[in-house]
Amino acid sequence: MLAGKHIVLGVTGGIAAYKSAELVRLLVKEGAHVRVIMTQHAQEFITPLTLQTLSGNPVATETFSLTQESEIGHIRLADTADAILIAPATANIIAKLAHGLADDLLSTVLLATTAPVLIAPAMNVHMYAHPMVQENMRKLASVGYGFVEPSEGFLACGYEGKGRLADPEAIVEELRATLTKKDMRHERIIVTAGPNAEPIDPVRFITNRSTGKMGFAMAKVAWRRGAEVTLVSGPTSLDPPRGVRFHSVRTALEMQKAILEAYPTATMIVSAAAVADYRPAHVAPQKIKKMGGNFSVELTRNPDILGELASQKGNRLHVGFATETEHVLENAVRKLRNKNLDMIVANDVTQEGAGFAHDTNIVTIIDRTERMETLPLMSKDEVAHAVYDRLLAMKAGNGE
Ligand code: CTP
Repeated sequence: MLAGKHIVLGVTGGIAAYKSAELVRLLVKEGAHVRVIMTQHAQEFITPLTLQTLSGNPVATETFSLTQESEIGHIRLADTADAILIAPATANIIAKLAHGLADDLLSTVLLATTAPVLIAPAMNVHMYAHPMVQENMRKLASVGYGFVEPSEGFLACGYEGKGRLADPEAIVEELRATLTKKDMRHERIIVTAGPNAEPIDPVRFITNRSTGKMGFAMAKVAWRRGAEVTLVSGPTSLDPPRGVRFHSVRTALEMQKAILEAYPTATMIVSAAAVADYRPAHVAPQKIKKMGGNFSVELTRNPDILGELASQKGNRLHVGFATETEHVLENAVRKLRNKNLDMIVANDVTQEGAGFAHDTNIVTIIDRTERMETLPLMSKDEVAHAVYDRLLAMKAGNGE
């Protein structure tokens, strides 16, 4: 996503300036070309040499420097940037930008650019809450500037509250979203992910090998593309993606309940969860003790969540996933028809690099006309983009 992109990182004067080193490292690791601009005060907290070394590019600090102008050129920085990130952003740079001031290199580049700008504020808790700072941020947001909200916690100034620079990983994720085309802005999507855990007694349950990675990628990518996302997930070890409404559930019945709550206003459902088809017919109230002989658990059917929604579908798009070990395409087409889906994403988990626990997948996308397209091995994020590209094309084809 960030590979090959030209990112200008503006660093302003606050104690969190030292975290810009980590940001540069993360961006470079992703293959971005990073050009750093430091304000004069930022250089009191971290040296240009540190950021120059990490970024592999000269750091710009002065507007009217003959050497910097010929080497870097401030208008060139403004023109070539795919995005500008200001992290940390002080109350001062926010105020300058909100009032169209250009009295140093960073503020000048900010006025001269047409690239998207993402601002990660960091300041004292009372400064952040100050009505003028809030007013300036509202003003900037209303004309399209993006913000990564500061987090809460202990601040270097000794106070506790909101004002700490957001986590560098969260800032980078927001930057990815900034650079992604917002072609799903009108979609409200329910994504399901992960396994179910169906209890047998208070300490045991039946589950499956789903890790949730494919569903989480579907949720994350939809959010990056501008959709409103509700992610309903069974137990996984993954952190909820940024920006999504997250419902953590365990059983298939809990999953169905959370889906039904969000369904009336949804435009799309992407069902990547490995829903448990069965649950123990009786859940023992106490831990079951072993006895002689065999032991069996009677199972009862869970609802087919996606299948049951078919009758109230309207013009929503329904997308299913079929994880198979044999007769992959035949099984997938049968599910597409039985559940009245618009698309099913089939994968054979016996293939190397596909299915559970991998960050990659090999899938065949089958649309409602039963046209099949097998995609090469790709990351789960790329699979998610491919699925949404085809769904949006399908919508456009319908005139929706
Ligand atoms: N699904 C569902 N509710 C279920 C089972 C599955 O909503 N009780 C959804 C899955 O999330 C997936 C699709 O239906 O999107 C296909 O799931 P899969 O488990 O592959 O198929 P099943 O319907 O369970 O069929 P089978 O048991 O024949 O594999």
